[in-house]
Amino acid sequence: MVEAARILQRCDALARHSELEGGLTRVYLSPEHRAASALVLGWMREAGMQAELDAIGNAVGRYEGRRPGLPCLMLGSHLDTVRDAGKYDGMLGVISAVECIDSLNSKKKRLPFAIEVIGFGDEEGMRFGTTLLGSRAVAGTFDKKVLDMKDSSGITLADALRGFGLDPARIPQVARKKHAVLAYAELHIEQGPVLEAEGLPVGVVTAINGFTRLKVLLSGEAGHAGTVPMSLRRDALAAAAECVLAVEMVTKNHPELVATVGRIEAKPGAINVIPGEAAFTVDVRAPRDALRNDAVQAVLSQIKGICEKRKIDLEVEPLQEFGVTACAPWLMQQLERAVAARNLPVRRLPSGAGHDGMAISAITDIAMLFVRCKGGISHHPLESITADDAAAGTGVLLNFIENFEAHAVPA
Ligand code: GLV
Ligand code: MN
Ligand code: MN
Repeated sequence: MVEAARILQRCDALARHSELEGGLTRVYLSPEHRAASALVLGWMREAGMQAELDAIGNAVGRYEGRRPGLPCLMLGSHLDTVRDAGKYDGMLGVISAVECIDSLNSKKKRLPFAIEVIGFGDEEGMRFGTTLLGSRAVAGTFDKKVLDMKDSSGITLADALRGFGLDPARIPQVARKKHAVLAYAELHIEQGPVLEAEGLPVGVVTAINGFTRLKVLLSGEAGHAGTVPMSLRRDALAAAAECVLAVEMVTKNHPELVATVGRIEAKPGAINVIPGEAAFTVDVRAPRDALRNDAVQAVLSQIKGICEKRKIDLEVEPLQEFGVTACAPWLMQQLERAVAARNLPVRRLPSGAGHDGMAISAITDIAMLFVRCKGGISHHPLESITADDAAAGTGVLLNFIENFEAHAVPA
């Protein structure tokens, strides 16, 4: 039995740990992250798991199989949020997985494999400008150069980890050996409108779209807003504005392609000063790597042209890139069997959003189950799901776990 009411109550309980009053913002290695992790570790222990924080700040629970030390089926999602977030993106996947373990534990059921549930500390990348820190550490692809990256207050990742009571030198120990992980499965809200439009509570993910993220720095010349004639200006913010529209234009005629400027800053930032510097981010995503790469080249060439025309100096810093991550057909089949076993129609769909599975795919095959959300709204405080859908998704995940056949892994 899975308790849908408890799943939603736990999402509410986690949402109370927020730096934003009246809303939800919880960034990696913050006091709110510590409090949310403590709650999750407590729920894991109540569900019969051994649970602790690892060296990168992931909340990790382990439910042993028929004997200790067996390879694991890994489940999970993330506990960090975007700014002014909803309460289900990430958290639902962790809580529903713990609910499944609680159900197994209450039946005293042990399986021929262990199960690990991970509440990844950083998936959204809000604090250090780079994403998937928790899952990259687990996958062994954590690049220690990122320890020097700074947050907006100038605190390095290494110092933030130490401040959280963690030892950055121990991060390599977080990495799992390939043979110790049989597969990774993540339940997540859809964050899009497809399931709702088709009247379906769940969907099986086929692949996660790839992304490229860039930071663009424009330098012009600051000056007096009242005295410098328009024809003599090198206004970095006006150039950035033209670039933002060019980024949007690149997606025209490609319905699968999306591109976003999510952040922009101008300096010195005064009403009567021409902006001498501007910086903005670009996030380009597509279900095909060639389409995304072509779009990134088009974005760069447009920005270069705009800067030449306006005599603006240009610097582009690549931030992060992930190719399309396919879900494994053998796991999709097992998830589909679990969907059908609950008398639900089987619907396959791609993921436009990024997920921890992108990093975890470096060590094992991955699968994802989407749960319908209202209006396709996500990364927004109005993100919402129903108790019935939480129950349906968690029921499918439990059926998948109980019938998981690791031997289906191709040799
Ligand atoms: C994570 O939510 C992302 O897709 O940006
Ligand atoms: Mn998100
Ligand atoms: Mn997410």
